[in-house]
Amino acid sequence: MGLKIIGTGCGLPEKIITNNDLAAIMDTSDEWISQRTGIRERRILSAGESLLELGTKAAGEALAEAKTKAEEIDLLIVSTIGGDYKTPAMSCLVAGELGIDCITLDINMACCGFLYALHTANAYFRAGMAKKALILSAEALSRLTDWRDRSTCVLFGDAAAAAVLEQADSEPVFSMQVRGKDGWEHLHALRGTDNCPFNDFEDNGFLHMNGQDIYKFAVSSITARIHEVLEKCSLTIEDIDKVLLHQANLRIINGAITRFGHPEKFPHNIEHYGNTSSASVPLLLHEEKGNFQRGDKLILCAFGAGLASAACLLEW
Ligand code: ACO
Repeated sequence: MGLKIIGTGCGLPEKIITNNDLAAIMDTSDEWISQRTGIRERRILSAGESLLELGTKAAGEALAEAKTKAEEIDLLIVSTIGGDYKTPAMSCLVAGELGIDCITLDINMACCGFLYALHTANAYFRAGMAKKALILSAEALSRLTDWRDRSTCVLFGDAAAAAVLEQADSEPVFSMQVRGKDGWEHLHALRGTDNCPFNDFEDNGFLHMNGQDIYKFAVSSITARIHEVLEKCSLTIEDIDKVLLHQANLRIINGAITRFGHPEKFPHNIEHYGNTSSASVPLLLHEEKGNFQRGDKLILCAFGAGLASAACLLEW
């Protein structure tokens, strides 16, 4: 027993921030950002917008496309580094907005979150515990980055993207890895300053990233995960129709193309959204799906904090 994606949707902030907008408020330039990363603009939440609104819109669109009513959903998973609230979990709030009454859970696996949500939904399907699932990735990296740190804040954007899944015959194949102690500190954010009188814990809570170490990890882990899913299915890259990579840096995507060839199989939209963490793979899927035929073989692949990396080979 496997799964099929039967609907997708997205929710984006209204505000578009270009590289030139950033260059007006910090020591950077369109040239540096676009040459080093491929990013030209990103969406950023405004004061009047919430991540819950974006997520609810994305999920509603996916349900409508899947012709699925809220009461048919028996598993709702939200992947997010952090919703509008630390508690309750964002999945509880999305369920409330959409009138969904089922098992809800949040997954915090950073950029790999959508892949972990797929893996979890697949396990529920296999166990006979769910027939239709809604998975939503909703991220507001603008709230986590230090806007005084030009080496990180220019890279990210905010977005939400969702997919409705149903049980199907074709089994997805996964390759997942967490490196744990080996390098996780290159990409982390502490919980932040707390005012407990019994400790002197202090940290600004912003995202810390050692860009060059993450770059090397990204290229090697993408290569390893894709090779692993191909080997498990006795396929080669020639058998795959599209590879949807986490959109972190166009140079990383080009690094994968150098290893696997076939640039036409590696679509990208990082130019418009920057790195939207776990929302990036489902957002790309949502934008690209018009080019897929049912039965096409897709590889979804992501890497990020953990250091975690994940790939899934599935049939469209
Ligand atoms: N504008 C102008 N100059 C800048 C900026 C900026 N925004 N940021 C850094 N610089 C400067 C640096 O200060 C440095 O100057 P110096 O040589 O005088 O010291 C110079 O540019 C080069 O900096 P590097 O860090 O060496 O630049 P690099 O070519 O490595 O590119 C980048 C940096 C884009 C971050 C790259 O390392 C990268 O993409 N790493 C991977 C990041 C990633 O994929 N993260 C994904 C996981 S995170 C997640 O998804 C949640």
